Amino acid sequence: MIEKHSIIKLRIEKQSKGVKFIHQPNKSASCAVLLLSVIFNSTHPNNSLPFKQFIIWNKRFDVSSKKGFLDGFIVREKLNNWNKMAEYILFYTFDNSWKLKEERKKRNISQQTIQREILSKNGNITGWYSNIETGKNLPTKETIKPITKHLGLTIEDLVPKYHNLKKDHSVWNYDFDNDKKEHETQKPISLIENIISHTTDENDIVLDCFMGSGTTGVACKNLKRKFIGIEKEKKFFELSKNRILGQYNKESDLKNHFDKKFY
Ligand SMILES: C[S@@+](CC[C@H](N)C(=O)[O-])C[C@H]1O[C@@H](n2cnc3c(N)ncnc32)[C@H](O)[C@@H]1O
Repeated sequence: MIEKHSIIKLRIEKQSKGVKFIHQPNKSASCAVLLLSVIFNSTHPNNSLPFKQFIIWNKRFDVSSKKGFLDGFIVREKLNNWNKMAEYILFYTFDNSWKLKEERKKRNISQQTIQREILSKNGNITGWYSNIETGKNLPTKETIKPITKHLGLTIEDLVPKYHNLKKDHSVWNYDFDNDKKEHETQKPISLIENIISHTTDENDIVLDCFMGSGTTGVACKNLKRKFIGIEKEKKFFELSKNRILGQYNKESDLKNHFDKKFY
């Protein structure tokens, strides 16, 4: 059901019970999203899997060393389509809004009790709280106050750490790595590191079911994450294994971080 050209990153958080994954849009990856959604919704019934962002990896930005090469693909005459100069990443994530409902039910507090502490300019009750509880909005410095007062939850409990809209945006300029490209669709390590550092903490486990050249495993080593990878082609499996092992220079490094299980 799940096939190539899909990056699926899966995180099981011990504390927030959240799961996050990312994929490039194609039919089978969409099936994967649906499948994971069904599995995790059954174990986390108060959660949903909202679509968060459409990210564009722009490969033809001005200072890219590949720009001239990619320019060559542009057919200037009789153009009846647009050349593909980007790849797309759909970002779905379970969020932490389920915590609100769980805590509210436990404490037997109604939505209105919290809601009436922040009224509209006309003094009317608004839907600010229910929008946060359904995951539509995130709390702000102001709207977190009644939530902390009644439910004991803080911004850190509810707002994912990737949510840094001032600094981060959805168009990414990444050049291919200068290393020899050993897989046709090898991704830049820094691109994968961006995804991993935004969505996981140190020692979290990252799963890549389509390892290819093992870029995700290399990024995990660099960022001190644990890694599980799957690859169906033996030659790419060996390539991934060697690339990841190559990141472990010292014997002690190997002992500490790596259980050397390859099947
Ligand atoms: C797009 S490439 C991944 C590239 C990788 N991100 C990198 O940076 O090198 C996808 C890989 O998934 C592998 N693949 C495809 N279908 C698979 C399956 N059903 N199970 C395991 N691996 C699969 C392919 O052999 C291919 O190497």
